[in-house]
Parts: sequence; C-alpha cells; structure tokens
Amino acid sequence: MSGASNNGGTGLGGAANVGAGAGGQSGMSAGGMPASGGEPSSGGAPTGAAGMANGGAGTSGGGTAGAAGMSTNLVTNGTFETTSSPWWSYANNTTDYPADQTLAATNGQLCATMTAGGQNVWDEIVGLSGVALTKGQYYHISFTVTADAPRTIKFKTGLGVAPYTDYFLESVAITATPTTATPQLVDYTYLNLRDDPMAQFQFQIGKTAGTVCFDDIVLEPVPAPATPAYTTPAHSHHPFKDYKGMVKMGTAVDTPIFLSNPLHNSIVAGEFAMITPANSMKMNLIQPTQGVFDYTDTDALVAWAKQNGLEFRGHPLVWHTQTPAWLTAPDTPFTADQLLDIMYKHIDGLMSHYVGQFPYWDVVNEAVDVNKDTGVWGYRSTVWHDTIGDDFIELAFNHAHAADPAAELLYNDYNIEQKGNAKADYVFDMVKALHDKGVPIGGIGFQGHYFIEPDGTTSNGVPDMQAIRDNMARYNDLGIDVQITECDFRIGKPLDDMKTAVQNKFYADMLQVCIDAPNCSHFTVWGLSDLDSWVPSTFPEYDFAHLFDTHLMPKDDYFAMSDLFAKYNPDDGTLIGGTTGTAGATGMAGTSGMMGSSGMTGSSGMTGSSGMTGSPSSGASESKKSGGCSVTPRSNGSGPWLVSVLALLGVLLSRRRRAD
Ligand code: XIL
Repeated sequence: MSGASNNGGTGLGGAANVGAGAGGQSGMSAGGMPASGGEPSSGGAPTGAAGMANGGAGTSGGGTAGAAGMSTNLVTNGTFETTSSPWWSYANNTTDYPADQTLAATNGQLCATMTAGGQNVWDEIVGLSGVALTKGQYYHISFTVTADAPRTIKFKTGLGVAPYTDYFLESVAITATPTTATPQLVDYTYLNLRDDPMAQFQFQIGKTAGTVCFDDIVLEPVPAPATPAYTTPAHSHHPFKDYKGMVKMGTAVDTPIFLSNPLHNSIVAGEFAMITPANSMKMNLIQPTQGVFDYTDTDALVAWAKQNGLEFRGHPLVWHTQTPAWLTAPDTPFTADQLLDIMYKHIDGLMSHYVGQFPYWDVVNEAVDVNKDTGVWGYRSTVWHDTIGDDFIELAFNHAHAADPAAELLYNDYNIEQKGNAKADYVFDMVKALHDKGVPIGGIGFQGHYFIEPDGTTSNGVPDMQAIRDNMARYNDLGIDVQITECDFRIGKPLDDMKTAVQNKFYADMLQVCIDAPNCSHFTVWGLSDLDSWVPSTFPEYDFAHLFDTHLMPKDDYFAMSDLFAKYNPDDGTLIGGTTGTAGATGMAGTSGMMGSSGMTGSSGMTGSSGMTGSPSSGASESKKSGGCSVTPRSNGSGPWLVSVLALLGVLLSRRRRAD
C-alpha cells in the first residue's frame, strides 16, 4: 500500500471504472480503411492475438463466490510493503527490439521500469503465475496504478503457456502521473469461462520506456452481478429490434465487454435483433492450435444470444487476418492440398459445431485488393489465395454450403458499397460470376466503415448514398441479399458539433438506404459503444464511432437512427401518416435532446425535447418486404449534403442555446 489514497470501494456491477476509453483491442489493423488512399495492407498487421479477449463459455452460469462476503484474494502479496514477491517480470528482448526492465517494491508499490522500449505492449510483462481459476465463476479484479508519463497498458487473466490464450484482457489508459501521484483505481468484475489451475494474471506494460507502478492488487471470486433492466431511450418507445421486419439491426459483441459489463449486455439484448462476434470466431482464437478448436467464448455468446432471442452471424470463416502462427508461419510451407484440407477442416469445425444455429455466415472476408504498382484490382495476396489459387473462394462457398445447407452464405468486404467505385465494381463482377456459375453465394456483406477526417473534410470518408442505392439495386437484380455488416463512422479527433452532425446524418442516410432497398435485410453497427470500440487502437487519430458513448449512454447518432425508424409502423413497415416519397433521412430533423437520456432503468430520464419535426415528410404506403417479398424502393435521392448538415447543425446549436 502506498501512501497515496485510493478511492476505495471496489464493488461489483461489472462495469469498468477504468479511465480507458476503448475496450481493449489489439493494435492489429484489419480492413475498414479509408475509401480512398489507404487500402489496408494485407500483411503488416501482427497476427498475435494479444488484444483478443477470450473468455469462456457458459453464460449465466454465475459461479458462486467463494464465501459470501468473505474476501478470498488470490494475490498473496498485493500491497508491496517490502517485497515484489511473488511477481515476476519479463522483457521480450530481441535483436530488433532490445528491451529490458527492472522490478522492485518502491514506496509501497510494485514498480516496473522499462529501460528500453519493445515492439508490442506484451513485450514487457509483469506477471503472477499459478492462479487457480474456476469455470463459470465471476472474479473481481482491482488495482491502483500510476506511471511516470501517460501510457496505455493491458491486464489479463489467461493461460500461461503457448498459445497464451487470454481469457480476459482489458486496456487501461494511465492518467495518474507521476508515480507519486494519487493512484488511479482500476476495477472490473468478469465472468471466467474456463477451469484453469495454473492461469496467469499479467500486466502488459511495454512498449515505451518508463515506469509503471501497481498497488493493492485484488483478484477474488465474487457472486454474479445483477443484470440491469433496460428500457429503450427511443422517443418512439420502440427499440431497433421492433423494426426487424424492415431491417434487422445488429451489433458486434466483443468478449471482454460481454464478460464484464452487464449493462452492455442489457442494451444489446434490449435494442438489437442480432449479433456478430467481434473476434471470438477468428481463426487465431477458435483454432489456436492446428486441429484443436476452442469454442468456449463463442459458445457463451451463442447461448446468451439464444436466451435473449438474438440471431447470430458467423464471422469469419476464411480470412487472412487474425490467423494463428501455425497457419501463417509453419516450419514447412503448406502445399495447396494441405491448405485446402486445412480450410475445409476449419469450415467444418465451425459450421458443424453450430450447424442449423446461425442463419448467416461470412464465408470469405476481404479477399480483394488492389495491385499497388498497376492499380489493377484482383485477389488479395494471402496465404489462402497464394497457396490454393483463385478458386479458393468458390471452394470455400461450396464446402460451407455442404456443411450447413440452410445457412445464407456471404462474401464480406469493405469499400464495396458504392457502385462506380473500382473495388465495388470488381467485387460485383466477382460475385456475379460466382452466382452465374452456381456457387451458393446468397449475400454480400457491405462492411460500411466510414469516417470524417480530423480536419473535418469528408470527401474521402462519406459515401455517395445514391451510389450505394445503385449498388444494392444491381445485387437485387441478381437475387443477392445485401447486409450492412460492420458499419461505423469514426470521427477524426477532436470531436466537434459539425463532425457529430455529419456522423448523425451518415447513420440516418445509411439506414434510409437500407430501408428503401428491397434486398437490404440487415444493418449491423460494429460495436455497441465508444467504450468497447475497435477504432482508437486501430485508427489512433479517430474515435467516437458508435451509437452509445463511453458511459453507455445513447448518442445523437442513435437518435438519428431511432427517429428515422419512428417514421415507420414497426408492425408492417409502412410510413406513419406519409403519402409519397422517402421518409427523409436527409432531413435529419430527428436528433433529440437526448442529453442525459439513458433509457436505463434507474437513471435519469431524457431532458431534451424529441427534436422530431413532425410526421414524416412523405412516404408511400407500401411496406418494406418481409418474409422474402419485396417492394420497389421508395426513393432514390439522398439530397444535398451540405444543406442537411447545416440544418442539423442549426438544430444542435439552437438546442445548446436553449440549454444555456
Ligand atoms: C476487428 C475487431 O473489431 C477488432 O477488435 C480487432 O482488433 C480487429 O478486427 N473487418 C472485419 C472485422 O471483418 O472482423 C474487423 O474486426 C474489422 C474490419
């Protein structure tokens, strides 16, 4: 215990008290890059799964804590009065990245000093071995931390031996500096999904030289936290999921927040109709060792989704990113036959385990890239393509279809939303050729990652909605379903009202396009909130991409979407009171007062006015298709951008003035 006080109280409740915004992702880049300029480099990204949560299964299981009310700290020396024992430290010291560190009990804290920087955050570790963890048990983790300068660290529980599976891993942005400052309290409760008598508790403190100090470390079994009730904050009182006959709204769920934040889970279950696992089905996590599948995390998510009536998207089967080292760096390169066998076994391993349970699978992800030298689009150079050949895509689809004939199989990619975009046109031709050949490709996943630049420019990051409508239409002509699978709109820092207005309009316009297209069936936002966002670690200059904020409060973009839905009758998708034309997402009058509106039982109500500008401006009486029958899109215009954004800005500013 150091002299500085901490603010005590650990408490349950699951929600993290850390100051870190993002929910602990790895720094790996993975698609979703800017539409122009930056196509992602396929290589480059570390495949190390350091950032991926793993956790385990059984959802509600709720272990019983050791003894009610009795603290059973698994950390024998967490106060560091005189010694650092039994904690050890490790520096990943290589020629390319020389690193070293010292560890000592200093002023009643455990202080690790990096004397040279590393490459990855896990290059420098402070650890405790031999922690016995029980499946289905909730654990409370708390500690205080200071550093000599602001930095982000990670902490985890996990397997201590290769392939170093992280059961639970979170990021912490340290703001308590210098090391003599009042320490910052980090406090989590999470559900552990695996029995392990020899787990490790670790702090990953690299990669920057400097000092980080810990104190008062607690890791203890506790009872299951309560599940918060959720009431939608939508002015219509209808959560997104009530409109699933028009568009099924989904979100991506990542394992760390799923295991540690009951409020997050209540919002997802209360608001959405479907989920996609953000990471747990990726090959490095689900087949970490060749032939050994670890379904634990995904099983937990699937069980929870079933309990809550949510549909599940399988994502992804064949992808070049987040792959295990045994696949990408084998001792001897795999032959084409060997790799095809691996691909088939991976598809079988996942699809047979979940056969009949997932209506949709992203079979092949991000397989198209541009040749940087020639500017010509083609198959991305990956281990799959380069070893098996051009036909790996159709082989994957055919095999997946055999594994689960009832499932809809999708090709999923980014920057393919707009007709006329070179990549989008290439992918359309590819999908059409596969379709014409009888390959069982039922849908196309438009990832939908967009953005506004830090300087406020939008030319690269805001799509032309008409081009998206046109693209959906040509897929409709083929009878191919379109799903918006990973939508988000990241904002270049710093945040301001103008950027927020552009974001609100983007989300509403995208939703309007999907509502209007007879073949656009799903709209998934890639992550619930700015708390569990993948954006800041992947695109450090950007943040604020999601519909809920870091406190899990709904943002204006949530209201922009829910107010658009409110113009429709959730039962049959008809416009309420409208007559002709579009529901008018571009008018974007629907942002709400929303400050402080939580929708969460027990917290304050909305203070703002609804902002709805009356009934829909227009609208045909036909409804969105349901059950496979379709209607003609109502509208095909998205209106002039600038006018709409300025109008919305006016609404925001006047609201602010009223608040003043
Ligand atoms: C992202 C996850 O959200 C991150 O947590 C992870 O670090 C990288 O991958 N395209 C995809 C998704 O198909 O699987 C990616 O998800 C985002 C880009």
